[in-house]
Parts: sequence; structure tokens; C-alpha cells
Amino acid sequence: MRLPKTGTIEIAPSILASDFAKLGQEIAEVEAAGAKILHLDVMDGHFVPNLTIGPPLVNSIRKTTKMVFDAHLMISEPEKYIESFVKAGVDNITFHIEVTDDPIAIVDKLHDMDCSAGICLNPETPVEAIEPVIKYFDMVLVMTVHPGFGGQKFIPEAAKKIRKIRKIAGPDIRVEVDGGIDKNTAPTVVSYGADTLVAGNAIFGQSDRKAAIDAILHAIKTTL
Ligand code: DX5
Ligand code: ZN
Repeated sequence: MRLPKTGTIEIAPSILASDFAKLGQEIAEVEAAGAKILHLDVMDGHFVPNLTIGPPLVNSIRKTTKMVFDAHLMISEPEKYIESFVKAGVDNITFHIEVTDDPIAIVDKLHDMDCSAGICLNPETPVEAIEPVIKYFDMVLVMTVHPGFGGQKFIPEAAKKIRKIRKIAGPDIRVEVDGGIDKNTAPTVVSYGADTLVAGNAIFGQSDRKAAIDAILHAIKTTL
């Protein structure tokens, strides 16, 4: 699978906020609700102060859904692990600019493995840190919270970087935003140029996941 072609707004539910005891069912619900991308937060207890999932879990859920698997690696030395994630069935791998001096080498490796590639920047990292390499990527991920935990408050200043990133990226690269996205913040980030919206608590924190996704999409439509 591939990231959906640009030109559409996509909601990417983050399973971090789901109930892992019934993960298959959780995924089926958001897929039935129309979400095409599933956001998988990978944390190593080193780059961020938390631990989450790895390739074995990806391998299990791969069999349950056709959704595009969007792995967000919040880990040091991502180059050591990308191959196992691709083998486990992820379609896109996003890694952080803060952990590598040679992002191009990682993009090349990912593309050789037929996996698309995203580059992510923390709230305090300036756009200049990724500016020269954006054109090599399929996606840019803008963090609007400090990575490590779901359910944090959206940082408006960090979101403002989206405008500049969209200008540099042009129309053919997805600009994803992650952290504190809900029906109140979504219209703002879309107006800045984001087209891929990660949402954890705003979807899995609600009992009706379809209604939650529809509410975000509706807020975008009616505000813009
Ligand atoms: C945070 C993760 C996010 C998180 C978002 O480090 O990268 O993807 O799941 O959760 P919400 O949408 O609840 O802020
Ligand atoms: Zn994430």
C-alpha cells in the first residue's frame, strides 16, 4: 500500500490511545469509519521517555486490515530498525531529523525497500533543519506536542511552521501534523497547509469513533 495521493485530507487515527486488549476491533472500527491511514507510534525509552510497540505487533495487526500503516519512529538510530518494520508490513516510515546526520541515506534505504518516507521535527526544531532535504521525502510530519505521550495540549507556535513547510514542499508531499489534533485545532492546521491529521485521543477517547472522525472532518469543511 501507498500513502494516498495528495489532494485529499486524511485522518490518521493513532492506536496509542486505543485499547490494546482489543486492538483488532479498534482498527476495524476506524477502518469502517473511512480512515485510510493508521498511525503507529514507536517509542524507545531513549529518544522519548516512553515505550510502546515494535515489529511483532505490527506483524500481527497487518493481517487484520488493508489500511496504510504509517509508522512514526520516535527512536534513536532509526536506520537499525527500519528493515524490520518494513518486513513486518509498514507502508510509510517517518523518523526524526533530531536523531540523524544523514537523513538522505535513510530515505534511500526506505525507497529501495519500496517504503515511503517521512521526516519529522519536534516543536522546538526550526524548519531550516529539514529545508534542504524536504524534496527527498514523501511526507513531512510536524509535531505539535513534545513526542512521547498522547493526550497533550496542542502547541500553536509549533503549528505555525506548517505554512513555511507547505511552501517548500509544494503540493505533492503530504504534510502531516501530530499532537493535540481535535475538531477545534484541525481547521487551523489545515488552513496552514496540512493534509494528514494524526488524532489519538480525539478518536479513541470517544465511544463512537466514526462520529469522532466525522466531527473533525465536518469542522474542517465548515471552518474553511
Ligand atoms: C505523541 C505521538 C502522537 C500521539 C497523539 O508522541 O506521536 O501520535 O498518539 O495523540 P493525541 O492525538 O492524543 O495528541
Ligand atoms: Zn505520532
